[in-house]
Amino acid sequence: MDPVDPHLFVIFGATGDLTQRKLIPSIFRVMTEDGAAAAHNLLGVSRSAWSDDDFRQYTNQSLHTAGYDGSLVDEWCRERVFYHQTERRATDLDSLRERIDTIEAELGLPGNRVFYLALPPAAFSSTIDQLGQAGLASGPGWTRLVVEKPFGHDQATAHQLNDQIHTYFDEHQVYRIDHYLGKETVQNLLAFRFANLLFESAWNRDRVEAIEITVAENLGTEGRADYYDNAGVIRDMVQNHITQLISLIAMEGPRAFDADDIRSEKVDVLESISPIKAENVVYGQYQAGLIDGEPVPAYRDDPEVAEGSVTPTFVAMRLSIANWRWEGVPVFVRTGKRLPRKTTQIAVVFRRPPVCIFHGVQDECTSHHNVVILTLQPNEGFEVRFDIKAPGSPLTLVSQPLRFDYDEAFARLPDAYQTLILDVMEGDQTLFVRSDEVETSWALYTPLLEMDLPVLPYPAGSWGPDEVNERLGLPNGWIMRPE
Ligand SMILES: NC(=O)c1ccc[n+]([C@@H]2O[C@H](COP(=O)([O-])OP(=O)(O)OC[C@H]3O[C@@H](n4cnc5c(N)ncnc54)[C@H](OP(=O)(O)O)[C@@H]3O)[C@@H](O)[C@H]2O)c1
Repeated sequence: MDPVDPHLFVIFGATGDLTQRKLIPSIFRVMTEDGAAAAHNLLGVSRSAWSDDDFRQYTNQSLHTAGYDGSLVDEWCRERVFYHQTERRATDLDSLRERIDTIEAELGLPGNRVFYLALPPAAFSSTIDQLGQAGLASGPGWTRLVVEKPFGHDQATAHQLNDQIHTYFDEHQVYRIDHYLGKETVQNLLAFRFANLLFESAWNRDRVEAIEITVAENLGTEGRADYYDNAGVIRDMVQNHITQLISLIAMEGPRAFDADDIRSEKVDVLESISPIKAENVVYGQYQAGLIDGEPVPAYRDDPEVAEGSVTPTFVAMRLSIANWRWEGVPVFVRTGKRLPRKTTQIAVVFRRPPVCIFHGVQDECTSHHNVVILTLQPNEGFEVRFDIKAPGSPLTLVSQPLRFDYDEAFARLPDAYQTLILDVMEGDQTLFVRSDEVETSWALYTPLLEMDLPVLPYPAGSWGPDEVNERLGLPNGWIMRPE
């Protein structure tokens, strides 16, 4: 790996959960794998009245929890970790600019800066303004801005946030995070499709009958109910993560493995998705039920959920992509909380053979399909299902899997945040969401968010409301790889 340019990594919201659990350990991992401690310098910025020493202890604790101890940790925290307290006034960022200048001069840094907004979304806008007005949108070296998700609340707010960012920053400086894109298995969708001609030549309306995407969580709101009750399943999962999966699975081959080529192809797919019709959407909200045999309460029993809330915690949808490759191939999507298990899978279901030559076993011919199942979590890997003849007679066809599991083949998959942070440091925007991509995605879902659709109950521990398969016209039920 090429060493990254020496830089100052500035985290806004440095006292928060994301910084502690993900960002600090990921920066440290990048540093230890890259081997150049002098390149990695961290400045935490937050409103809490902390000193450098407080933040160093916090960093040390975060690394300890992530399994890192020892002299390198102590030395790095002592020499290369700093804290700056800020209020929310623009003048505070003037003092931040002075602090940055001082740290860079002391450490002999060339003025390359990352500004990572690990803040609640309500604070993005004011912080971007303050950065711009304090003259921090550009510096002596490169300057990069990382914006966490959610990016906007709907099409209008996403557009507004983009406008505001572009007042001060060029798009090539901006890294909109969707941490799903940092997962190895999500990136592997590109390798699977565009490094293997075997599948790519059949990846179209002539050979594919349907695409199914399942993103299931068995957890409930887990202390985030106040956020979730305002967001709901479309904003929490569909507009960002699932839309990324749809675009990667359906996009055309990019000219090269290049950030703008890939992102342009993704935008093309999103622009080809037909407007979502109310009859192709089933919303649900979980009731009390059993997860792994244990009783769990209903969504509305969470004290942070508004009384009588109709926020959907589940959605199943049928989407259509109106382009040359996918016209007529339904894309079924389902995602929800308190489903039986945590899993993310994409099933590409191929058409049946046009003629059945197996006389007397006609039923077998009509029931089986080739299926490619890509599992993104847990047990990352893929499976291709083929029909084979079972031994003996009478002749019987059975579906058998060819399987590949990542953890059998590779020692450890890097954490998504580690991958993304390294990319920010290296200036590679491939795995970040471009401004037109985020707005196109919101343009698709904002009309749906404005529709007043019924929210059906489903028991926790089920796969959603009973009505789903019939309403959406699923030809084969949901095809999944077993645990
Ligand atoms: N946590 C995760 O696992 C996770 C995962 C994916 C995405 N994200 C996204 O990452 C961002 C940060 O998440 P988080 O869980 O770390 O958030 P958080 O803990 O709620 O907030 C981070 C820090 O921001 C500061 N802050 C709070 N309200 C503020 C305000 N109005 N103005 C300025 N600063 C404020 C607080 O520090 P001070 O009081 O010291 O200023 C707080 O410690 C969010 O956008 C979230 O959606 C988080």
